Amino acid sequence: MHNPFLIGERIYLRPLAEEDLDRCMRWINDPEILSTLGRRFPMSRTLEREWLTSHYKSEKDLGLAIVIKDGDVHIGNCGLHQIDYQNRNAEFGIMIGEKEHWGHGFAPEAAKLILRYGFDELNLHRISLEVYSHNKRAQKAYEKVGFIHEGTLREAYFRNGCYYDDLIMGILDTEWRQNGTTVLDR
Ligand SMILES: CC(C)(COP(=O)(O)OP(=O)(O)OC[C@H]1O[C@@H](n2cnc3c(N)ncnc32)[C@H](O)[C@@H]1OP(=O)(O)O)[C@@H](O)C(=O)NCCC(=O)NCCS
Repeated sequence: MHNPFLIGERIYLRPLAEEDLDRCMRWINDPEILSTLGRRFPMSRTLEREWLTSHYKSEKDLGLAIVIKDGDVHIGNCGLHQIDYQNRNAEFGIMIGEKEHWGHGFAPEAAKLILRYGFDELNLHRISLEVYSHNKRAQKAYEKVGFIHEGTLREAYFRNGCYYDDLIMGILDTEWRQNGTTVLDR
């Protein structure tokens, strides 16, 4: 493991580094991935570098690389964004960029590590996210770790000639601690 920050069973999360830049650009410019994140325009190298370096300038954004321990393979990124220490909330984001690794439970494992860090280390009260209604895969992954569908911004996202709903999902620290399965995993 290189520079591990949070360590799970099959994966670990580490800070993003300059050498991750090309990989991250390839992922973010993949149209299938782009459509799940709501971006319209391609990401340039300059913008991607700014995004990468901006993460550690303040304690408002924590972006981490998701790496499979076996073979040390960087497969995606995840993190907490817009961390608000007064209201004790933050937004969760994740992308498994290497599609061959979709469906193997890596996103739920990474999400659990981030939730534990957010609740048990940063003392957050609420972690939320937005997911478009067409992204069933992501909704399923989020439900597995205890995110609850809290509300719907109807037809807020336009893609491929159609409007889709923007779903708000969230989890509270109390729910995280009450959830038997999750507590066992902690
Ligand atoms: C969404 C994402 C994070 C999920 O990661 P993952 O590691 O593949 O998650 P999982 O391994 O839990 O697999 C997803 C689950 O959704 C299920 N699924 C896939 N397509 C589905 C569909 N159309 N309808 C319902 N369930 C579906 C899979 O079967 C799997 O469930 P299972 O383990 O019970 O079989 C990953 O696919 C990804 O990064 N996608 C691109 C970027 C993205 O969408 N980010 C999230 C933006 S909100």
